[in-house]
Amino acid sequence: MKDLQKFGGNWTIEKLDILTSYLDAYLTALKNRKFKKIYIDAFAGTGKITTKDESQVLAGSAKRALMAENKFDHYYFIEFNSKKATELNEMIAQEFQAYLSKVTVCRGDANVVLKSILEHIDWRYNRALMFLDPCATEVNWTTLEIVAQTKAIDLWYLFPFSALNRMLKKDGNIDYSWEKCIDRLLGDSGWKTELYIEDPQLNFFGEQDMIKNASTEHLQKYIIKRLKTIFPAVATNPRILLNEKKSPLFLFCFAVSSDNPIAQRIAMRIAGYILDHKE
Ligand SMILES: C[S@@+](CC[C@H](N)C(=O)[O-])C[C@H]1O[C@@H](n2cnc3c(N)ncnc32)[C@H](O)[C@@H]1O
Repeated sequence: MKDLQKFGGNWTIEKLDILTSYLDAYLTALKNRKFKKIYIDAFAGTGKITTKDESQVLAGSAKRALMAENKFDHYYFIEFNSKKATELNEMIAQEFQAYLSKVTVCRGDANVVLKSILEHIDWRYNRALMFLDPCATEVNWTTLEIVAQTKAIDLWYLFPFSALNRMLKKDGNIDYSWEKCIDRLLGDSGWKTELYIEDPQLNFFGEQDMIKNASTEHLQKYIIKRLKTIFPAVATNPRILLNEKKSPLFLFCFAVSSDNPIAQRIAMRIAGYILDHKE
């Protein structure tokens, strides 16, 4: 029985179209450069996405990367779920046999596997495009730090906006485990002072509680501000992916780790344009 990877909504296509546009532009821009080009998809899925009514099967990120006209020199796919990893391997063996030697599929937690992959690549000679497409809050801040330290990766990160917003409770009464999860997601506990203020009304015990003081826009800006603390260039126009009820679900963010101003300028110009214009 196949472990079908289900379609989230129109935002799934929006996200994948943005990624694919950037991927094509990236491969064209680096075509004649001496660097080896690597694609790293750390939440790879099966390569296929089935629509809700199961009437259609769409190409997921892994398949889209393999189908691009220009090619990467190597592809790393990471997937936690073993059935999905097997399905991905089967899809690659059937549909992309010619690239088998250029593909590594790893089963495991993206945070752990990425650390090991990134440590073993010589970033003087390699450049990478990375896609972090978690279901929710799986990406640790420490993983983003490792990505930034390579100074060689362009990153598309599907930030779990609604999961974070839900944990940031209005009355400031946040479970310890959620608090730890937010710290892990955002890298420190600065969010407590940035997104909460003291309630002007005293509580039953005559003390001041903390209350949430963060609009959707404020929270979006804060996420970008946090990314800017570790990446030298971050797009300030992330795509806000909305659910059917038009509430923000994810923030699709772009960050460049290179400290070369020319590389940053080119990457930011392409990504900024795609984020503004891609429907
Ligand atoms: C949103 S889906 C990815 C979809 C895929 N990028 C595509 O376009 O087809 C997220 C995937 O991440 C996997 N996953 C969840 N937690 C993970 C983790 N800690 N490490 C690696 N993969 C994980 C899930 O099994 C799921 O297949």
